[in-house]
Amino acid sequence: MTTSQVQGPAIQVQGLEKSYKELQVLRGVDFEVARGSIFALLGSNGAGKTTAVKILSTLLKADAGTARVDGFDVATQASNVRESISLTGQFAAVDEILTGRENLVLVARLRHLKNPGKIADDLLERFSLTEAGARKAATYSGGMRRRLDIAMSLIGNPPIIFLDEPTTGLDPQARIEVWQTVKELAEHGTTVLLTTQYLDEAEQLADRIAILHEGRIIVNGTLAELKQLLPPAKVEYVEKQPTLEDVFLTLVGADSKNGKDSKDGKRGDQAATTAASASTSDK
Ligand SMILES: Nc1ncnc2c1ncn2[C@@H]1O[C@H](COP(=O)(O)OP(=O)(O)O)[C@@H](O)[C@H]1O
Ligand SMILES: [Mg+2]
Repeated sequence: MTTSQVQGPAIQVQGLEKSYKELQVLRGVDFEVARGSIFALLGSNGAGKTTAVKILSTLLKADAGTARVDGFDVATQASNVRESISLTGQFAAVDEILTGRENLVLVARLRHLKNPGKIADDLLERFSLTEAGARKAATYSGGMRRRLDIAMSLIGNPPIIFLDEPTTGLDPQARIEVWQTVKELAEHGTTVLLTTQYLDEAEQLADRIAILHEGRIIVNGTLAELKQLLPPAKVEYVEKQPTLEDVFLTLVGADSKNGKDSKDGKRGDQAATTAASASTSDK
């Protein structure tokens, strides 16, 4: 990566806009991601997270605004951007009839790398898949498959990796495995931009969290900064810190979800309770 501009932020997004016909999905999105950090783009279903990731990974053109990835402009230097990134979507790119190791070797060959076998073995070890490496990916658990998918996306050592909803559809144990993997990526110096609709995922993983809502980033900060947006709720002598969920629902509007299921209803009640107790300090 001799041409990458290692001093600047890994990702810089300014005034990004994108519509699908009448539907304005991104209405002026701005954010920056520091190198080696984990940045979570948090938003409800349909908020425009995948649209943003597609623009950043050069799969889609923005209508307005600029985005630089690894110092390269996504519109005018798309091939440089592609060399600097990998993208792992919600639906794993793993070939199930191949073994885990064969999947990795295949990608290394496609990328014309020397020593594909060694690259595969190193990644299997790094992702705790050495024993499973000789088994068909069809026999893997959801977490193992997602780990293999992430391992495949690291072949060629891209400095920046996009993970679009990396744990959607995984069971709790598998989610924790993937979280561990993502943390280790950042420890190796990889910049991670992940999208999620899970508040606990952003809370667990991200150095910074940006909430995408109605086409704009409505807040962007560390978890501690986001929590300071709401005063601690006081109930008698007990001080309660707001959770990220309280912050999210207050900013987004708890009733904007139309109570799709009973869980949403409960969340709305919780946020309302918190807001009420924050303002009256007395129930
Ligand atoms: N190719 C497309 N054509 C028309 N509408 C689209 C297209 N892709 C996404 N959308 C719409 O744009 C909105 C944002 O989608 P998306 O970026 O996938 O959101 P998210 O990833 O946050 O769930 C949604 O309302 C979605 O239905
Ligand atoms: Mg999406």
